[in-house]
Order: sequence, then C-alpha cells, then structure tokens
Amino acid sequence: MTQRENEFFTVMRNYISKEKHSFHTPGHKAGAAFEKGFRDFLQKNIYNLDITVTPFVDSLHEPSGCIKETQGKISALYGAKKSFLLVNGSTLGNLAVFLSLFRDGDSVLISRNIHKSVIAACVISGIYPVWMNPEIIPGGITGEVSSKIVLKYLNSYPETKAVFITSPTYHGIITDVKKIAEVCREFGKILIVDEAWGPHLKFYGNGSFSAVNYADCVIQSFHKILPVFSQGSVLHICSDIPDIENMEKAVSLLSTTSPFYPMLLTMDYAAGLLAKKGKKLTMKMMKLGSYASKKIKALPFARVLDKSLLPPGNSLDTSKITIDFERRGLTGFFIQNFLRKHGIGIDCANPLNVIATLGFGNTKEDVDSLISALKKLPHRKAIKFKEFSFPATPSEIALSPREVYMKYRKKKIPLIAAAGQICAEMLAPYPPGIPVLLPGERITKDVIDYLKAVDLFKCSAFEYGKERENKLKYITVIDV
Ligand SMILES: Cc1ncc(COP(=O)(O)O)c(C=O)c1O
Repeated sequence: MTQRENEFFTVMRNYISKEKHSFHTPGHKAGAAFEKGFRDFLQKNIYNLDITVTPFVDSLHEPSGCIKETQGKISALYGAKKSFLLVNGSTLGNLAVFLSLFRDGDSVLISRNIHKSVIAACVISGIYPVWMNPEIIPGGITGEVSSKIVLKYLNSYPETKAVFITSPTYHGIITDVKKIAEVCREFGKILIVDEAWGPHLKFYGNGSFSAVNYADCVIQSFHKILPVFSQGSVLHICSDIPDIENMEKAVSLLSTTSPFYPMLLTMDYAAGLLAKKGKKLTMKMMKLGSYASKKIKALPFARVLDKSLLPPGNSLDTSKITIDFERRGLTGFFIQNFLRKHGIGIDCANPLNVIATLGFGNTKEDVDSLISALKKLPHRKAIKFKEFSFPATPSEIALSPREVYMKYRKKKIPLIAAAGQICAEMLAPYPPGIPVLLPGERITKDVIDYLKAVDLFKCSAFEYGKERENKLKYITVIDV
C-alpha cells in the first residue's frame, strides 16, 4: 500500500494512532462504552455482521422480527407511541417529519438555531418557514427560544401549522419544553423537538428534561452520546396527533435499502443497556462533566459555560463543556490544534471556544488528561471580543427554501451590493453561529452591516449541501 500523506488510509491511520481521548461523537468512544462481551463480539465479527437484508434478520423497511422488537424496546423506554430507527442520523428524522406532516405551502415556526438538515427538510416539504430568533447569551453563545418567544410568534402567525425547536442546543442549553408544549397545545399546534444532542435526558434525574414527555415528535441522535455506531438515531412519535402510518412511509422513503447491520445491532444493544443502567450511566457522565467544568473554570483566565449565564427557565446539560481562553489570547482553533498534539480530540472549535462532548464511554482518566493538557496552554495577549448585536428585525421571507432551490438560478454578488436581493444560502457567522440569513430571506441593509461587522470572524455558509468557511465578501442570491 502506498504511503502518501493525504491518502485516506494514511490520514485515518495517523488520526487514530494519535488520538487517546475522545471528546467528540460517537458516544461509544472507540468502543469503550460497550461492555466487554459485546465489544469482543463486535471486534471479532464486524465483517461478518455487515450483511445484506435477508428474511432471516428482519427488514428495516417492513420490520416484523428483531428490528420490530428493538423499536418496541426503545418506545417503551422513552414512553413513546412509536419509535423508528434512523440509519442516516437525526438528519433523516428531520426530513421524514417534515415530509410526513406538512404539505407544499404550509407555514411552520422554526427557531433559527437549526441544523442544516432542517433547510433540506424545508426544501423537500415545500413549507414556508417563519424564523424565530433565539436568545443570545453573553459571550456570543446562542441560547434557546423561550415559551414567551413562541407565544409571541404564535400570536403574530396563527396560521402556522407547527412549531419546531432545537433542544438541547449544541452548547447543551435545554429550554423549558414543557412550557412550550403548553403554549402549542393552547394554539392547537404540533410541537417537533430536535433533541439530537439529548437521548440521555430521559435518564437524567427524574427524566423531566426530555422532550419526549411533552412534544409530538422528537428526533434523537443516539450515536452522539450512547454506545451506538455513527448515524444510529431515533424518531419518537409521542402523541396521537402525527399519523404513524404516514410517518412510517416517509421514514422508509428516505432510508437506504442497505442498512449497516452492525449499527442497527448497537442500537438494540444501547436499548438493553439503557433499560438496565441508563440512569446510572447518565448520572456518571453528567457528574464527570460537572467535575471537568469545575476544574477547567479554576484555570487562569478560563471560562466555561455554566448555568449562571443562562436565561431563566433554561438548564444546562453538563455533558457538553464549552471552554474559552479568549482572555488568554487563544482562539478555539488554536486550542483544538493544541489538544490534538496532546492526544485529545474535541467535537468542535469556533473562533472563541471549543466544545468538548462527553459520551457513555468517557472516563475520569479522559477528563483528567483534558484538564492537564489545558493547563499547558500558553498565555498570549487577550483577544478583544467585540459584542455584536444580532439584527433584531427578521428579514422578510420572499420565497420558500423550496422555491429558492427548485425555481431559480443563483448568482454570487459582492455583499456590499446585496441589499434588496433574495438570499440563496444559509449564512451563520460566529459568534453566535446561528444563521443571520436563510434561503428565501430578503437581504436588508441591517444584515449587510452586521455581516460586515463580523467579517473579522469565520463565517460558515450552507448552500444546499456545500459548506464554506471564509471571510464574507460575496453572497449567493437569486438570479431573477
Ligand atoms: C441540533 C442537530 N440536529 C440534527 C443534527 C443531525 O444529526 P446527525 O448527524 O445524527 O444526522 C445535528 C448534528 O450535529 C444537530 O446538531
């Protein structure tokens, strides 16, 4: 085999040889979260387990045997009416829910702090989004939409069919889903919660943080936290409102016909583990997160996102650790590279911070290694952090994301000449990392001024599947 530096094989081999402690997804953490017997079985049989669909191992598309049983185990654990196994992550859950519940031209209230799969869900369903601005927390971190915000929007847009929120956020901020569900019920609206980062919340404390208790549909990435191979996720139907048969058709329509059976098997394994030890393992992980936060906060000039910074009604999932050393002059990208040299992988770096995510497979030794590596970070001149005010007035929605995608050609034009044009991409400069422009929104002077101001920082844009990171000089608009 050749040894070129950029060859995939060489890159992967180098990556795994250098990483000793994972603070990123998947939650099994190089297999550590699997109990020995199951881990050994997987290790020995991984090739043989990668099989085709045969009547002897049940079918994901028409489950009647072991896969049906796994779905049943999961819905019983979460108290759902029905749970579907998703083989393309929560991405598939978001797509299926929109495809099944909405019709072309429906409008839906959606919090702006979405994953990009929600844009794809808007495109395939043809809905008109009404975007709700979440709160911005000091330090430029995106918060959640509160029940008050949802109420305000429902009063202004009573024609919307449903409310879609993300909770917890990537930073671990959990909103008061119970209150939001009460507001939705009062207005007769469906509530969908993207709980990609919270499959463990049902096992935390008395379980009341989990959206499965309150929402109609909940989407969870099991693989992000639990001992499940990447992509393994679940869609829960938690009320009688969504039509289960319709949902089943949508999930099937969007799913591969060649599922990776080892991943499906780990989902069944995780269901068994949750039933036996879900609470114990979740509490252990959350305590480990609190321990890490406390120790890191004590380092000179360190800042860790904690509950004191959150708006009332919000809670923090302590398995997500947002760390910044901006007052020590270090960007998140620098910290990420520095930690990598110490054998530590983190989930995400932003200009201002890094996010370390715990999973069931993390140990105290992992956390102590993270702390001792952070202790070795250098001191530099503090970065001057500019506080930007996110444009308060929402941009007019001129076209639906589907119309943007299906009906029009696009062109790139200089940002400074874009006022009045219709945006054809998602622009999410950091901080705070939520989209300031979404496909179909009319670009205002306010937004251009904002984008020029945050030009110092990296901007990630999503143009129907393509991501870029750069300083923002050009913008993609509709070519009318
Ligand atoms: C809030 C949110 N929803 C959905 C997704 C998509 O999840 P998956 O990677 O399981 O498709 C992500 C991914 O990070 C996410 O952060």
